[in-house]
Amino acid sequence: MKPLPDPFAGFEGGRAALLEAVRSQFRLDWVGPHGAAHWARVWANGRRLAAATGADLGVVELFAWLHDSCRHDDHRDPHHGPRAATWAHELRGSYFELDDERFELLTGACEEHTRGGVLAHATVMTCWDADRLDLGRVGIRPDPRYLCTDLAKDERTIRWALRRSLDDAPE
Ligand SMILES: [Fe+2]
Repeated sequence: MKPLPDPFAGFEGGRAALLEAVRSQFRLDWVGPHGAAHWARVWANGRRLAAATGADLGVVELFAWLHDSCRHDDHRDPHHGPRAATWAHELRGSYFELDDERFELLTGACEEHTRGGVLAHATVMTCWDADRLDLGRVGIRPDPRYLCTDLAKDERTIRWALRRSLDDAPE
């Protein structure tokens, strides 16, 4: 199968430029529980899961950087997922490109990521699991009942993710 195009190909500054755009409008603590370190771990979790799920890595990476980017608080903020999806429309074409099918996966994953769903397209499930596997940073052990993919539910994966989320968590 032909590899999918890199969403950042041809965009000056690549992912760093996108992260700069995210940072310039981010309302919360950059090193807080929903900030950049969390997003980096979501991206790492997603890469690990994608080897088994076959997820679209371009979508998973964009989900990692964008899914919490429009939060207004560090609590429930139930509309932050849909806000991120709306903002992704503005960023598309200026900071990254995805065809319609891939873009729909990204916006769907962002919109729905807090609703607790466990059944979706393999790429979307990989995004959600990558996020949920980082719950250790806020003192919550990821629960297999709320994870989607077999690899994420595996005790070894949970332990691996937990260790990383605790090691990296701010003091
Ligand atoms: Fe998150």
